[in-house]
Amino acid sequence: MTLNSDWDVIIIGAGASGIMCATTAGYRGKSVLVLDHAPKAAAKIRISGGGKCNFTNLTVTPNHYLCQNPHFVKSALARYQPQDFIDLVDRHGLAYEERDLGKLFCAERASDLIQILRTEADWAGVEFLINTPIESVSYTHTTYQIKTPQQTFNGKSLVIATGALSFPKLKATGLGYDIAEQFGLKIIQKSPGLVPLIFEGRWADFCQNLTGIALEVAISIQNQRFQEALLFTHQGMSGPAILQTSNYWQKGMPLSINLLPRLDLPDEFKMLKKTNGSLTKFLNQYWPKKLTQAWLNLHPFDNLANQSDEAIEAYAQLIANWQVYPSDKAGYDKAEVTLGGVNTDEVSSKTFEAFKQPGLYFIGEVLDVTGHLGGYNFQWAWASGFACGQSL
Ligand code: FDA
Repeated sequence: MTLNSDWDVIIIGAGASGIMCATTAGYRGKSVLVLDHAPKAAAKIRISGGGKCNFTNLTVTPNHYLCQNPHFVKSALARYQPQDFIDLVDRHGLAYEERDLGKLFCAERASDLIQILRTEADWAGVEFLINTPIESVSYTHTTYQIKTPQQTFNGKSLVIATGALSFPKLKATGLGYDIAEQFGLKIIQKSPGLVPLIFEGRWADFCQNLTGIALEVAISIQNQRFQEALLFTHQGMSGPAILQTSNYWQKGMPLSINLLPRLDLPDEFKMLKKTNGSLTKFLNQYWPKKLTQAWLNLHPFDNLANQSDEAIEAYAQLIANWQVYPSDKAGYDKAEVTLGGVNTDEVSSKTFEAFKQPGLYFIGEVLDVTGHLGGYNFQWAWASGFACGQSL
């Protein structure tokens, strides 16, 4: 099939931000072509949220994002809010459900959501060319040339919506960063985010022995506090609390984990002492027995009745402020997102156009913007795609 060669807008990346941008620009009367090298569009939407896609969150604020310039996200997030996306899926009758902490998921399948996005793109007259590798990008005479094996396309504007490095098996690549560098834009150092943490030595043994056990914890790190589930794994720790923490953790930092965040432990332990209660039985009320046993092997404590109040306080602290040292993060193959990316100082927060390169735009995860776990990353994709699409 031969397509027109000349387009108002060419978007590289048929993921969340690319489709939203394409539709918005299409509805504004622009001719839009979306190119993607993957065999299907929106692969990450399809597999996200265990196949149900946590597509937004009811509590989005700029504080839910990491970015070297924390003000950068404000404009786009204000102009396209979670309710705007909810209105969109409501118009199509999508069934969805609210889970803990304001997370919204498809009730059935993420593919229902993709169908909605594709339908909107069709209505907006957007053309997709999938399964098409990008051979080169160049800029001459105020037009971008995008060379593919089939054809070379010319775009008055070029939007880079290629996402980031996480999950290479879904065809994630660093093309967006390469294009940014080709046009002289700076990249903030990248690393895996929302990713399990790996332990070595005795910590690794402790975790491995408890593989599959999950419990609610609270982890405080760099002025953030995450009270969610922790999951022990063969390699260390995962689960929402750890994935959130991984966005802030750097090599060498300890983690401070409260293993019983809903309890006032010193009070509970003093009460237990008075009633001559058993620590094992007490812990077993809240933890799987295997965890209690492993914990008491690691940190034995004699009968509470024989302990001073100071010793009891100190032991309560051990549980409420358990210090462990991860050795590393897992890699991009396990990471939901990529920290870092195109430096947002190089890009307008209103239009997403590069200051030094007219007609070149960057949206979504390729930018140095990373959301917390819970639908915040898709909300950024929708919001940045919408804001950019409105400016094209
Ligand atoms: P996205 O990755 O969606 O799209 C980029 C597109 O560019 C892809 O279609 C890709 O094929 C294409 N591309 C890349 N390189 C190319 C090249 N060289 N040539 C041509 N095309 C190229 N977030 C959330 O809010 N809720 C959730 O439930 C989840 N769950 C989740 C699970 C897993 C396993 C992962 C890996 C990620 C999530 N996320 C998430 C994160 C979320 O998927 C992510 O932040 C958004 O998809 C980013 O949207 P973008 O449009 O920026 O990139």
